Amino acid sequence: MTRFNFSLPHEYILRKAKPVDFWLIAFLIFKARLDPTQLNWQKFWVIEHCGHLVAFGQLRNFHLAQELGSLYVVPNFRNQGLGAFLIANLITQATQPLYLKCLKKELKQFYVKRGFQPVNFEALPSSLKAKFRLSYFRKRFFNAFVEFMKY
Ligand SMILES: CC(C)(COP(=O)(O)OP(=O)(O)OC[C@H]1O[C@@H](n2cnc3c(N)ncnc32)[C@H](O)[C@@H]1OP(=O)(O)O)[C@@H](O)C(=O)NCCC(=O)NCCS
Repeated sequence: MTRFNFSLPHEYILRKAKPVDFWLIAFLIFKARLDPTQLNWQKFWVIEHCGHLVAFGQLRNFHLAQELGSLYVVPNFRNQGLGAFLIANLITQATQPLYLKCLKKELKQFYVKRGFQPVNFEALPSSLKAKFRLSYFRKRFFNAFVEFMKY
């Protein structure tokens, strides 16, 4: 199992999202063209810096599975470990087998380093197959980059 360094610099705060975070999270998800499904603020974890939200991610619930998704770090705060820290935190929150869908080739190694491994579409739980079917067709018939991964 992959081990993580859980330290976050003291000027950052990890917390569960609050209702007031919702519109900024929704705006940034649409702006970054991330998956806009299951946008319930209650499920999000955020990282705050000087009172400002700078990163977030969530676990989506499915039958017998969860999906790590909506991972986002504000551009000026990237490459400081915040994304990895959020992933590590979300992994500890997961209560079901954990999956994700990676649509960016350059991020595959990022997830592998955090303990995720590629899995075939056929090996996904049926609840996730239903959700990922369209991406699977894009991968199969249009050669789009899509990697299904399991922790
Ligand atoms: C992906 C994302 C969450 C990473 O957050 P982050 O805080 O910069 O990540 P960390 O600082 O923890 O880790 C940076 C690592 O990711 C790699 N990485 C991040 N974005 C990358 C990119 N676009 N291309 C290549 N590598 C990238 C870095 O090289 C670094 O690798 P390392 O662990 O080997 O040093 C952030 O870039 C982001 O919000 N991107 C836009 C939204 C997005 O694409 N979300 C993921 C959807 S699948």
